[in-house]
Amino acid sequence: MEMIDIKNITFAYNGKPVLKDVSESIYPGEFIGIIGPNGSGKTTLMRCMNGILSPGQGKVELEGKDLARFSSNQLARKIAYVPQILTNVFPSTVFDTILMGRKPHLGWAPTKKDLEITAEIIEKLDLADIAIKDINKLSGGQRQRVFIGRALAQEPKVILLDEPTANLDLHHQHEVMRLLKDLSRKEISIVVSIHDLNLAMQYCSRFLLIHEGKLEARGGLEIFRPEILEKVYKVKVEIFENKDHKYIIPLKPLSYD
Ligand SMILES: Nc1ncnc2c1ncn2[C@@H]1O[C@H](COP(=O)(O)OP(=O)(O)O)[C@@H](O)[C@H]1O
Ligand SMILES: [Mg+2]
Repeated sequence: MEMIDIKNITFAYNGKPVLKDVSESIYPGEFIGIIGPNGSGKTTLMRCMNGILSPGQGKVELEGKDLARFSSNQLARKIAYVPQILTNVFPSTVFDTILMGRKPHLGWAPTKKDLEITAEIIEKLDLADIAIKDINKLSGGQRQRVFIGRALAQEPKVILLDEPTANLDLHHQHEVMRLLKDLSRKEISIVVSIHDLNLAMQYCSRFLLIHEGKLEARGGLEIFRPEILEKVYKVKVEIFENKDHKYIIPLKPLSYD
């Protein structure tokens, strides 16, 4: 059954349309890459998927039920959202930040189980050495792992991440994508917005290409064709393919009409 069903949604900021009749279903265990130029609507779509924004028309359903009918705590037990990397957030340790992810499950104080889950995540994400460090003092890659940890503490069925690999070096980009891929194998649906098409192609199982608020293309690696990339990104590209890999080499920018 569908995890998330986006049904003909539109969204406008102060009358300016940003999403135009977008529909899509996301299934358990998928690793979806949302791609598209700056300003095409990726972040807005994710915010509609987690209920931060309500669409003007259409609706988003989670396990068959309208998002609007969930309380914020109910939603947080199903969907976790990792916004684009936040610099200089309120000082907090790695441990406390991850424990905070338990909030939708908490009574007035953390239980033994909440502390155990937090400790397990810290081990699993290899954060033990820095567990009592202030998150403002971490590297970009460490901080991204901490926020993924906080999302996991919610024990959600879906994790949405906005540009989780932006600002990371090559090693940490792959580390984060690999971690997300492993999570998707555990039947969690993962949705990322991502600019690096080659990185996306290496890890994601399916792609949504957004252009000016519309779903321009959806599907597997076959959607990466020169014509479509040139139309959407205004860049001349060459595509190389071998048995299980596909690469895009951008050649030169084309002028906007
Ligand atoms: N809070 C906002 N108020 C007004 N316009 C916004 C706001 N957030 C985004 N926009 C506009 O909506 C469009 C889509 O933005 P966004 O969803 O952030 O795109 P992306 O994540 O693909 O870069 C852009 O034109 C952007 O300027
Ligand atoms: Mg964005």
